[in-house]
Parts: sequence; C-alpha cells; structure tokens
Amino acid sequence: MVLCLLMLCASAQAATVTETGTGITVISAESWAQTYPDVFASYLKNAENDTAMDHVQEYPMIATVYEGMAFNKYYNSARGHYYTVEDVTSTGRPHKLANCFTCKTPDFTAKVNNEGVGVYAIPFEDMLAEVNESISCYNCHANTGSELVVTHTYLADAMGEDFAALNAKTASCAQCHVEYYFDPETKAVTLPYGSKAAMHPDAILAYYDEMGFADYTNPRTGVAQIKVQHPEFETYMGAGSVHAAIFSCADCHMEKAVNDAGESYVSHTWMSPLASESITATCSACHADLKGFVEGIQAHAEERTIAIGNKLETLTNQLADAVASGKYTEEELDAIRVLNRRGQFYWDFVFVENSEGAHNSKLTEECLDKAEQLIDEAMALIKA
Ligand code: HEC
Ligand code: HEC
Ligand code: HEC
Ligand code: HEC
Repeated sequence: MVLCLLMLCASAQAATVTETGTGITVISAESWAQTYPDVFASYLKNAENDTAMDHVQEYPMIATVYEGMAFNKYYNSARGHYYTVEDVTSTGRPHKLANCFTCKTPDFTAKVNNEGVGVYAIPFEDMLAEVNESISCYNCHANTGSELVVTHTYLADAMGEDFAALNAKTASCAQCHVEYYFDPETKAVTLPYGSKAAMHPDAILAYYDEMGFADYTNPRTGVAQIKVQHPEFETYMGAGSVHAAIFSCADCHMEKAVNDAGESYVSHTWMSPLASESITATCSACHADLKGFVEGIQAHAEERTIAIGNKLETLTNQLADAVASGKYTEEELDAIRVLNRRGQFYWDFVFVENSEGAHNSKLTEECLDKAEQLIDEAMALIKA
C-alpha cells in the first residue's frame, strides 16, 4: 500500500525541457527572495556546507593512478552548491575553456541555450567576466520560479525516448550529477549514452572504446585512460537499485520543512538524508537504523575501493617498469594496457561516485569485482 502511494507521487511529474535560442536572460536567485523567502533562505544555507577534503592527501594512490592529468595533484572533494564558481576558478588545475562552467553557473547555461554549442569552446576567462552567481533557480526552474524545467539540454539528448518517463525531481539533479565528456571537436558537454539502458557502466565503457576516447594518457605506461566524473544518476538509476522506482533524488536530498508561521515548503539546502530528521522519519517504517545500515554499506565499499586503488597503483608501477625494461613486444604491452584501462574505469566509476555505495550497493560491488578481476589479469601478464 505504502509503496503504491509513493509510486503515484513519483510518477506525478515528468521532466520538460527549456526552449532554446530565445535570447533569455537569467533572473537571479536574489530576485526571487521576496516571492519565496523560505526557499531562498534555505538556498543560502548551502554556504554552510563549506568543507572540502584534499583527495590527493586522503587517497595517496591517485598521484599515480591519475598521472598524466592535473587531478593527480589538485583534487578536492565536493561541497555545497554555493561554492561552485569559487571552486572551479581556483582548482589549481589548468582550465582553458568555458565548458568548465557547465555545472557551475546558470549564466553559462543560458548562454549555451541562447547562442548554441559554439560557446563551449570560448576562453574560460571571457566567460568568467559574465558570471554573476553560482548554481541557482534558473538551472532547475528556467525563469518560472517553481516549475521544474531541464535547462541543460544534453540530458534530454542522452536519455532519448526514455526522457519522457524520467521523474522531473530526478532529472533536475541529473543535469549535473552525471558522467560526461567533452566532445573532442566541439568541446561540448556530452553524455556517453543514448538511452536509459545504455547508462550502465559496461555500455559506457563500450561507448568510449568504440570512439577510441581517452581523457589522458599515463606518460610512463602509455595507457589511454578515462577519468570518470560523479556518476550519481547512472548509479542510482542503474540495474540493482533498490529505490529507483520509488524515490527521486529530491525525495532523499531536499527535506520538507515548516516555517515559523506553520507553512510547509521544500528546503533547498541540499544535504545527506542522514542529516535530516524529517527525511529519515519517512524511512523509519522500513529502516529502524538507517544511519548504521548506510554506514555499513559505505564502510565495505570504501575499504574495497582503497584496497583495489592500491593494487591499481602497483600495476601502474609494474607496467611502467615493464615498458622501460625493453623486454616486452608492443603487442604484449598493449594487452596489459587494455586491461589496465578497463580496470581503472570500473574502479573510478565507484571512487568518484559521491554516495560511497549507498545509492546502489549491488552495482558498486559489481564494478569493484570487475576492476579487481581486470587488474589481476593484467598483473598476471607481467613477467617475474
Ligand atoms: C538544483 C536544482 C534546483 C535549484 C537550483 C532550485 N530549485 Fe527549486 N526545486 C527543485 C526541486 C527538485 C523541487 C521539487 C522538490 C519537491 O517537490 O520535493 C523544487 C521546488 C521548488 C518550489 C516549489 C516548492 C514548494 O514549496 O512547493 C519553489 C517555489 C522553488 N523550488 C523555488 C526555487 C527558487 C526561488 C530557487 C532559487 C533561489 C530554486 N528553487 C532553486 C530544484 C531546484
Ligand atoms: C547546475 C549543476 C548542478 C545541479 C543541477 C545539481 N548539482 Fe549538486 N552539485 C553540483 C556541483 C558542481 C557540486 C560540487 C560543488 C563544489 O564542490 O564546489 C554539487 C554538490 C552537491 C552536494 C554536496 C556534496 C558534498 O559532498 O557535500 C549535494 C548534496 C548535491 N550537490 C545534491 C544535488 C541534488 C539533490 C540536486 C538536484 C535537486 C543537485 N545537486 C543538482 C552541481 C549541480
Ligand atoms: C533512497 C535515498 C536516496 C536517493 C533517492 C538518492 N540518494 Fe543521494 N545519497 C543517499 C545517501 C544515503 C547518501 C550518503 C549520505 C552520507 O554519506 O551521509 C547519498 C549521497 C549523495 C551525495 C553526496 C552527498 C554528501 O553529503 O556527501 C550526492 C551528491 C547525492 N547523493 C546525489 C544524488 C542524486 C543526484 C540522486 C538522484 C540521481 C540521489 N542522490 C538519489 C540517498 C539517496
Ligand atoms: C517500503 C520500505 C522502505 C522504505 C520506506 C525505505 N526503504 Fe530503503 N530499503 C528498503 C529495502 C527492502 C532495502 C534493501 C535492503 C537490503 O538490501 O538489505 C532498502 C535499501 C536502502 C538503501 C541501500 C541501497 C543499496 O543499494 O544497498 C538505502 C541507502 C536506503 N534504503 C535508503 C532509504 C531512505 C533514505 C529512505 C527514506 C527516504 C528509505 N530507504 C525508505 C526498503 C525501504
């Protein structure tokens, strides 16, 4: 009974896409403050989520695993939406193009919608001069103030016919919390799939293999590697997900709050469900100890991620030695390189996903199994 009711809620609203080429300008978050004071106040509270961990210190293996791209020196964990512009401007990593602003500010989203994909390739600094605010109302509502509108049109392109069935409260977040790549020619943000089924990591890897895509090449091993990015959407919606049919992203990450006058509103402080009493209350019918349950899943995923990451580091060093030794033919090295590329992809799909296994522990463990197997196969080809 409960499930049926919840499913009705979940299917209540389909996602719609913004019109493009309309010469629209962004109505700033500030301008909605009078109309929606509670939502606006909760939105400002994202500034309180201000701590970022230094991944390079926390996970020493990435200095080696990401060698060949700047993430191996500068890589901080995510924090609140309030900080996107500040964080993208000061990453320490070189950024040459405006496409880095895709998931950071509505000013760039509107520019893409008005002027087309050509703007992805303009210089970063030119775009910075036009940026007024971090992620805001326009990104998820266009200029309607409250209706859910997909303004990042690449999401609709990537979902194909499955887009119509996507819950708007999930689509809203899937505009950015996804795996993507920059098209080698246009530099446009593109998602590596064309349907919901093709969002699976196996299909994504096949997609990248087919186009011969690599984000970077390790200078010592010559392995053409893929740097996965925050695939929360693909993981949560993927095969094995317990709750994908019932709950939207917003159900677990945006709490229903009540103001001083007793009126209810949806909080726009994006947070962990574990940090919200009103969200965990809706889970308690089935999860007596949600926190302990989630922590158990995460601890197991985290332990394996570190162990397999260490193995990947060892493989990278062994392969670099093999290359330098001159004792292998190019064919022999290429066989190891392919296994290394694939193993790193499955490992990264878990490492950079922000729920640490909680969104879909089955898929998470499957990816870790595949990563480990591929890395073991590669190591077996290294001569003693
Ligand atoms: C990252 C996406 C995102 C951003 C940014 C965003 N919203 Fe929302 N908003 C949502 C989602 C998702 C819902 C639906 C939540 C639900 O129904 O559970 C929503 C709901 C609302 C509602 C209806 C809620 C209610 O109480 O009935 C209003 C009004 C609203 N947003 C205003 C704003 C304003 C104003 C801003 C900017 C200050 C803003 N939103 C920024 C995603 C966003
Ligand atoms: C326009 C792009 C965009 C949209 C839309 C978006 N996010 Fe984000 N989100 C980001 C970025 C970028 C970060 C990391 C910010 C940083 O570290 O500077 C982030 C960070 C977060 C964080 C904090 C993570 C942490 O480790 O503290 C949460 C939670 C979050 N988003 C949830 C959501 C939810 C839920 C939705 C949909 C309602 C959503 N986001 C929609 C881009 C987006
Ligand atoms: C069934 C509930 C549920 C749904 C639905 C859900 N998540 Fe989560 N999410 C979680 C849990 C649990 C965590 C781990 C929180 C923690 O570690 O405190 C998490 C973590 C996150 C984080 C990291 C936040 C942080 O504070 O570290 C982000 C970002 C995120 N989810 C985005 C999404 C997006 C995007 C979607 C939709 C595609 C989504 N989530 C759907 C339960 C959910
Ligand atoms: C109708 C019952 C029900 C409700 C309500 C419910 N859950 Fe679940 N949840 C389950 C079941 C069943 C599982 C699978 C348990 C298992 O694997 O041991 C599960 C698993 C999970 C997982 C782990 C997913 C994974 O892939 O391992 C998370 C995280 C989670 N629930 C969060 C939540 C949150 C947050 C809420 C409230 C918003 C919630 N659940 C509400 C029944 C429910």
